[in-house]
Amino acid sequence: MSAFAPIGGELCAERVPLAAIAERFGTPCYVYSRAAIEAAYRAYDAAFDGVPHLVCYAMKANSNLGVLSALARLGCGFDIVSAGELARVIAAGGDPSKVVFSGVGKSAAEMESALAAGILCFNVESGAELDTLAAVASSVGRVAPVSFRVNPDVDPRTHPYISTGLKQSKFGIAYADALPLYRRAVALPGIAVRGIDCHIGSQITDLGACVEAAEKLFALADRIEADGIPLEHVDLGGGLGIRYADEETIDPYAYALAMRRARGPRAHRLLMEPGRFIVGAAGVLLTRVTYLKTGAERNFAIVDAAMNDLIRPALYDAWHPVQPVRPRAGPVLRWQIVGPVCESADFLAADRDLALAPGDLLAIGAAGAYGFVMSSNYNSRPRATEVIVDGERVHLARARERIDDLFAHESPLP
Ligand code: LLP
Repeated sequence: MSAFAPIGGELCAERVPLAAIAERFGTPCYVYSRAAIEAAYRAYDAAFDGVPHLVCYAMKANSNLGVLSALARLGCGFDIVSAGELARVIAAGGDPSKVVFSGVGKSAAEMESALAAGILCFNVESGAELDTLAAVASSVGRVAPVSFRVNPDVDPRTHPYISTGLKQSKFGIAYADALPLYRRAVALPGIAVRGIDCHIGSQITDLGACVEAAEKLFALADRIEADGIPLEHVDLGGGLGIRYADEETIDPYAYALAMRRARGPRAHRLLMEPGRFIVGAAGVLLTRVTYLKTGAERNFAIVDAAMNDLIRPALYDAWHPVQPVRPRAGPVLRWQIVGPVCESADFLAADRDLALAPGDLLAIGAAGAYGFVMSSNYNSRPRATEVIVDGERVHLARARERIDDLFAHESPLP
């Protein structure tokens, strides 16, 4: 059951009416359900019961400390891509020894802070990065645990902007280059080879693509081990899609079963890096209709959230469900739900048939992943509030930015 459902005709987050949240915190406001986040994590984790594994939540999807702290308390690990994300894990009470560090452009300073924190593994994406990591580790007298992110050249059959496992992508190491790189890595001081990694893309709804990538990864692991280089873990990456409209998504149990089959009798511990699956359905963006503008061609509902708050529709033409918080009777018109930003790409939803009046509250659904984290201050708009609902309680997880915050780090010329 969704954490966002009507109670007595009013849309609620768990047991709290969204209208009460808008009253108390204003809009635009991201609202997350703790129960939904925890349930998604538990479902994913439990699907791998019986196999040694660690779920490393890809926190780029939603890195609010409140969200991270809920997951850390369940024993979740984290997949990070920057020193900033590592600092968030630590601030939220997460365990650095359950952190994997992904990304094509880790800086020496970022490597140093991750070595000092004692992370589980660096997912290395090039020979040049390996050399820098070896030099940094040696200079601080530490050994860097590494796995290589291999590009399996599998089409995830998703949006091109979020496909990462194809040959032409900037991510990972070409399949054919992996073995020579492993041989080079074991001879380097400051490096300890631990595993192998891949991530082929995001919002994947085709289990076949995941299986193809996993089979290629395990086959390569066999070749590396036959070469005398043992691997402790295989990191399968993230990518499981969620339902925005009517997509057929992959059930985590079906996914885990397929991954167990691909692993076969091998002893590797499995790591996974789900992001969207854990938080995507667990959040809505709450916004209020400012003006209605009807016209011969199109009708616009101008709301107080904009592309700076949720960029997915503008960037990927992504479809998010839109639900009135208090559905009203009255004529249904076809609306373009748009924000106040001066760009034609500033839309949150197109062609929605709704009965609307100014002042109405709308909940833009499936906004828990890649929502707030991709928001900006474009048009000098303060970023939105974030709250986490927990049963009947509401926790302010991030206060609304103030106008002063916008230019706190700027100064006019003398
Ligand atoms: N691991 C790595 C190395 C990644 O690059 C990503 C996502 C993940 C894990 C998590 O993928 P997920 O389970 O969330 O699909 N902004 C886009 C999505 C970008 C995904 C980037 N990498 C969107 O709004 O759809």
